[in-house]
Amino acid sequence: MEKVKKTVFSGIQPTGTVTLGNYLGALRNWIPLQDEYDCIYCIVDLHSITVRQEPAQLRHNAMSLLALYLASGISPEKSTVFVQSHVPAHAELAWALDTICYIGELNRMTQFKDKSAKHSDNLNMGLMNYPVLMASDILLYSTDLVPIGKDQTQHLELARNLAERFNNRYSPTFVVPEGFIPKLGAKIMSLQNPLAKMSKSDENPNGFISMLDDSDTIRRKMRRAVTDSDTEVRFSEDKPAISNLLTIYSLCSGVSVADAEKQFEGAGYGVFKDAVADAVIATLEPIQQRHKQLMADKDYLNEVLKQGAERANRIASKMVAKVYRKIGFLPKV
Ligand code: TYM
Repeated sequence: MEKVKKTVFSGIQPTGTVTLGNYLGALRNWIPLQDEYDCIYCIVDLHSITVRQEPAQLRHNAMSLLALYLASGISPEKSTVFVQSHVPAHAELAWALDTICYIGELNRMTQFKDKSAKHSDNLNMGLMNYPVLMASDILLYSTDLVPIGKDQTQHLELARNLAERFNNRYSPTFVVPEGFIPKLGAKIMSLQNPLAKMSKSDENPNGFISMLDDSDTIRRKMRRAVTDSDTEVRFSEDKPAISNLLTIYSLCSGVSVADAEKQFEGAGYGVFKDAVADAVIATLEPIQQRHKQLMADKDYLNEVLKQGAERANRIASKMVAKVYRKIGFLPKV
């Protein structure tokens, strides 16, 4: 049966507080999709334990991320919002996909290589297997479109390959998903090193802006942001630091990069950085206020999770049953 609306799926890991990079590269772009698509937004806690997590902190982070989803404009009436560990099908499908995924494919993943270098004391199988679980997340819901930042494109490519491989080996089962990567903001860079991605796991907190940083902290981090030589506010490849700040400014203020260049002509970096800070604060402050209100209403948040898990389970368990049947497992009696 043809679907009336196409399906969108995406997720964020509840590790630490999400950054401005997560917001501009992903979360913010999820909001308008809700009107046109069947959207499924997941808090991917199974993914987060590939790196050591403190249990109480993980629980808090998952709830806080849910509140951030809602505070940013995700509506539980329009979209399915749930926690990955509440839907067993994610792990169940991942196992089946594991058996059609080659070790070489996972070994090649740049994020695996980066993370293994960073966590050499905890080189666990989950870290390597992570992209297969992500493929499972996406394929379970017959997802058409996956809104993500640039760093996830290699993982999405694997999901597409696994879908095609399974479809060829058995029979058409999975939709082969497309990525949805924003033209501007797909890779927000660290404020301290414009050649590295802004990341919540950065050891230097001045490198990232957390979505829950207060205004003073945002202003301070912005002032400390590294800049390029010369004093021109111009977007260009040889000016990675200023180009990154222009990207952030444009996305937060709604002013195009070209207009921003004109606006700050001859202004100098100090004035420009303060304006970027103002724009970021104006974007995050209303979200932070809603986040605070939501965090005070755990009953509501739990109800959202309950309904989300029910909806997700209904779709996902059917897909797993179908996959298991095609593989040749005995049907449940
Ligand atoms: P995660 O939690 O690292 O990041 C969540 C989303 O934010 C994007 N992102 C960025 N975008 C722009 N600039 C940045 N500096 C930046 N940092 C992160 C990421 O591209 C991502 O879209 N594996 C995923 C989570 C996941 C998932 C999925 C995503 C699990 N299953 C299924 C989509 C579909 C991850 O670790 O994202």
